[in-house]
Amino acid sequence: MSKRISIAIDGPAAAGKSTIAKMVAKNLNYTYIDTGAMYRCVAYYAWLNHVDVQDEQAVSKLLKDIDIDMFPDGTIQLNHEDVTSAIRENEVSMGASVVSQYQAVRTFLVEKQREMAQGGGVILDGRDIGTVVLKDAELKIYQVASIECRALRRHKENLQRGIESDLEAIQKEIAMRDEQDMTRLISPLKKADDAIEIDTSDMSLEEVVAKVMQLVEQRI
Ligand code: CDP
Ligand code: CDP
Repeated sequence: MSKRISIAIDGPAAAGKSTIAKMVAKNLNYTYIDTGAMYRCVAYYAWLNHVDVQDEQAVSKLLKDIDIDMFPDGTIQLNHEDVTSAIRENEVSMGASVVSQYQAVRTFLVEKQREMAQGGGVILDGRDIGTVVLKDAELKIYQVASIECRALRRHKENLQRGIESDLEAIQKEIAMRDEQDMTRLISPLKKADDAIEIDTSDMSLEEVVAKVMQLVEQRI
């Protein structure tokens, strides 16, 4: 039997990390862990409780009441309620980027992520997987694409889901979020020294998956 490795995928917003991670996990029969969804759950829980995401102390106090469950079919539960669609809203994306700056939030979620990743056979996507969460991952990918391309992909995705979408506003939102994620003090988004960068701007999903699978094969 081949070795079951740990795979880290990091990169800016809408670079296709989760789509690729899911496809690769399916090919390998690995567990996929969407760490961005966990930050989204914290922001969404703050909103549900009328807590301002800018209030670090108040957000940190909520953590003890947050229970996140992720299921193999992609369903995400927050305190046993299905929040899979609710956490994808635009305001939640920005809120997630704000709460992700807080040490207490990161400590709480990183611990959970490491627990879930124990034993290998996992693929995690996020911003700090290769640099913090799984520093020893056998394969680290830094997935990027031009801002125009990423905005267009998110825009198309929204339209497909029947959500109203403004391309210019999306581009602004992801640029702002990237800036915030790359410049924060704790665990900023950056390419790990040993990560392999893949620019997917001109690649199809199938081409990206093939590239990642080739890198996996070399390691197992
Ligand atoms: O997880 P992340 O925010 O990085 O991106 P995503 O949620 O996977 O969204 C990326 C969107 O771009 C999806 O709708 C993909 O189908 C599409 N896409 C891609 O990810 N990669 C390509 N090479 C082409 C399209
Ligand atoms: O799918 P998209 O790339 O738009 O965002 P996401 O992966 O769902 O992450 C939402 C936000 O959570 C990001 O903008 C980051 O601020 C934060 N995040 C993080 O700080 N660390 C992670 N490992 C994953 C997400």
